[in-house]
Amino acid sequence: MTDLKSRLGEAVTAAFAAEGVASDKIRVTASDRPDLADFQSNAAMAVAKAHGTNPRDLAGRVAARLEGHADLTSVEVAGPGFINLVVSPASLASRAAEILGDEARRGAEPVEQARRVIIDYAGPNVAKPMHVGHLRSSIIGESLKRLFRFRGDQVWGDAHFGDWGFQMGLLIVACADEGLGTQFMATEGPFPADIPVSLEDLERLYPAAAARAKAEPEFRDRARKATAELQGGHAGYRALWAHFVAVSRSALEREFGALGVTFDLWNGESDADPLMAGMIADLETKGLLVEDAGARVVHVAGPGETRKKKLDDGSVVEVPSPPPLLVVSSEGSAMYGTTDLATILDRRQRIDPELILYVVDERQAEHFEQVFRAARLAGYASDGELEHLGFGTMNGPDGKPFKTRAGGVLKLHDLITTATDKARERLKEARLGDDLAPEAFDDTARKVAVAALKFADLSNARTTSYIFDLDRFISFEGKTGPYLLYQSVRIKSLLRKAGDAVPAGTAIRVDEPAERDLVLTLDAFSGAVADAYDKRMPHLVAEHAYRLAQSFSKFYAACPILGAEDVGVCASRLALSQGTLAQLELALDLLGIATPERM
Ligand code: ARG
Repeated sequence: MTDLKSRLGEAVTAAFAAEGVASDKIRVTASDRPDLADFQSNAAMAVAKAHGTNPRDLAGRVAARLEGHADLTSVEVAGPGFINLVVSPASLASRAAEILGDEARRGAEPVEQARRVIIDYAGPNVAKPMHVGHLRSSIIGESLKRLFRFRGDQVWGDAHFGDWGFQMGLLIVACADEGLGTQFMATEGPFPADIPVSLEDLERLYPAAAARAKAEPEFRDRARKATAELQGGHAGYRALWAHFVAVSRSALEREFGALGVTFDLWNGESDADPLMAGMIADLETKGLLVEDAGARVVHVAGPGETRKKKLDDGSVVEVPSPPPLLVVSSEGSAMYGTTDLATILDRRQRIDPELILYVVDERQAEHFEQVFRAARLAGYASDGELEHLGFGTMNGPDGKPFKTRAGGVLKLHDLITTATDKARERLKEARLGDDLAPEAFDDTARKVAVAALKFADLSNARTTSYIFDLDRFISFEGKTGPYLLYQSVRIKSLLRKAGDAVPAGTAIRVDEPAERDLVLTLDAFSGAVADAYDKRMPHLVAEHAYRLAQSFSKFYAACPILGAEDVGVCASRLALSQGTLAQLELALDLLGIATPERM
């Protein structure tokens, strides 16, 4: 089962080949002039010169070979050598029937070769508040996880929990100073089973301790020492730590859950710790670890890879670029990069992935470049197995990374609550959901809120930054999540009105321009999904969902459905509506967006 675009691409490529032109530049694209054609190929212009011929002549000869092709009613050459293709109603109808019958995939192809893929996303930290980087990572990562799984890969979404840094030492000394969990300050047990530190304690203690560490070197040193002792195996600290991790994790799971973000693995940075010493020894043996001002680093820049750096005295020197990866600090501690490197080994042992995608803020690009290079040098990963998928920032109206109104850091829970309140207001204004029971109304409002936040993020290319504008995101008009939910609910209600009775095996007819357009859009899903997958760009699926909703809107306006005179036409249009709904819900699901039943 292939989409029309690929099928015609093959036919055009074969026709060019028969004319002696073999090239991988030969493509078929959707027509720029839907009034004249469905698809076009501009290949003649690209390849004619190299074959010593003129594009228009070549296009004419290719067109003549395509004449009579079973899928086409017309093949024409236009302008300097465009080949315009018009698909026959019968082919459109049979392609539509194929998509309508394909319950699992709605016309999208699976990958040829499934791989084992880990997607590292969200990356929240114990007790440390989340920021927009974590929010975007969780939204984009969740979508990529669904997209890769849908294409047939075996995928593990890993939260890569930040449970092992300095913040753990900070929390321990902050507890000690408050007399919280004092029994756990001992190096040996037995320890009581219930630990009197709550999530609220953690949320209160962490910011205070972080601020105090900045102001008081003595406090900072104690926290450092506690961190080192924890990592060294201090039993009481370990017990406290395990409790902090569990408390944080269940709160985070709840918050992410409300956003429709889930993980298969909650492995933490701590999971890589047991591998750390062996890895450092291994790097040493391989001659990769170099002494540098008391620290130990791996040089990752190749010969000639340098950049200019201005020193404090104003002079400019050439330094390696990317800079060396810091593996062991001058104080003897393992660093963020060391953890990421050891995590690659940990993942090899547990899962042995063929691909690891890191969905992390673009600002960490250099960090990943260093880690990936070090991993390749050490033989922990080969080319193409590690990819950093960076993304831009969600900014506030001031152009700086978004903060909540209180000026504080982002709280996922507050963000979702604010969005849900606004969704309720909007629904009421639009007189939607008037006849829903309170729980159903709430459910719809929550779905509208999540769709608004996620679609606003995912409709932008991953790499661009965008401005947080809740009023715009939550509008039922324009390119928004709520608009798409509204369209899907509208189709659901149409189908309910029809008694949900679309007879199986209904013959599809594709005669009206709006029907053609709708079927061509349904056909384009396969290409959009494949492109989004290849480029790791969920916005291509978002684009498709929006286009599909618009095609449906036009179809709905132009073609009477329940009011169609002919029963056959009515059944065909209902079947098309049902197929559209199914593909729209599938596309939204790939974005991590759920649709309500009613509004
Ligand atoms: N916890 C990190 C942070 O808050 C993000 C982790 C990203 N993933 C990774 N493998 N380094 O910045």
